[in-house]
Amino acid sequence: MDSPSLDIEHALQVARAQVRRLVTEYPLQFPTYTQHGKWHFEDDPWAPVWTSGFLTGQLWIFAELTGERFWHDQAERYSLALESRKTDSSTHDIGFLFDPSWGRWHDLEPSARTADVLVRAGRTMAARFNPRGRYLRTWVDAGSTFIDVMMNVGVIFRAARLSGDPALQRVAVEHALTSRRFLVRGDATTVHEGWFDPDSGQYLRAATHQGFRSDSCWSRGLAWALYGFGTTHLGTEDTRFLRTAQDLADTYILRTGDAYVPPNDWDDPHPALPYESSAAAVAASGLLQLAELSGAAGERYARYAAGILSTLSGDAFLADPDRRWEGILRHATYHHGNGLGVDESVMWGDYYFTEALWRLASSPRLRALASVAPAHPERTSE
Ligand code: GLY
Repeated sequence: MDSPSLDIEHALQVARAQVRRLVTEYPLQFPTYTQHGKWHFEDDPWAPVWTSGFLTGQLWIFAELTGERFWHDQAERYSLALESRKTDSSTHDIGFLFDPSWGRWHDLEPSARTADVLVRAGRTMAARFNPRGRYLRTWVDAGSTFIDVMMNVGVIFRAARLSGDPALQRVAVEHALTSRRFLVRGDATTVHEGWFDPDSGQYLRAATHQGFRSDSCWSRGLAWALYGFGTTHLGTEDTRFLRTAQDLADTYILRTGDAYVPPNDWDDPHPALPYESSAAAVAASGLLQLAELSGAAGERYARYAAGILSTLSGDAFLADPDRRWEGILRHATYHHGNGLGVDESVMWGDYYFTEALWRLASSPRLRALASVAPAHPERTSE
């Protein structure tokens, strides 16, 4: 693999410019996807709103990297605005809401208050556990779980650490083991949705919402899984989860190759669009996390992640702040079947792109593994 060229600071500057405009022009609004490049501010018509943590998380990243008061104040305001969701039992996306927001706040400035919010959020997520099927249920039905839920076990691990409650840890581990058994196939591809009999706990069948078919591999689902199993290894030090994350990473790399950015579903013989950039952004950040956990094998993951970021930072994907596109990454798709956010910017694509850049900007070791030049985060206003 050639050394990718990646200008971390330029990409971060673009990200900051786009987010500064969003929070200045539309204060305390939490959009999910763009329509013709403009942020769409209505509620999500498909799922309970699940994306508010991502904009908030970008604000914390910019606060950390620049040291500017502007970003810190915004990050606090947006975090406080979503705090009430800590007891929201209508969604399985509690980790998406709280890890990038209050989790980052706690990592930067730990306090009893941030810890309390995160423990409440973790308990709300853990309350979705079905002890017979040993899975965390989705908002769809008591019998449904998604591969995406693997991104929401991190908040339970965090709550277990902060509270010392072993029951929380057990729930997160059990869900990960169930997902590993039923949602990761023998060839290290992923099922989007697993259906169970919620009374007996028996596994029934695979299904999908955003992928091509029940037996196909939705690329963002696999990216969520490679990231989530890495997080689960971090929370448990159980090498089974590390091996699963590595197998999934190998699948991403094998199936995507030099394109770096996959289609929405690798098994769709006639994809409507060639690229789903948010899957690539999630994979890049997940691969960088995995690189830190993988010893010598980490170099391959870090270099591939840099290749993804270099591709996403090119003209084809990175928005031009001087033009009228309001998101950061173009060519993402939320839900093709429902016509939501198709070939647009999506908030989690923008967040995980920013997060992956933050991982490189803040770790000389990762930059060395990835063979990319240092970032120079300037502590000055744009
Ligand atoms: N619900 C998470 C996703 O669309 O990937």
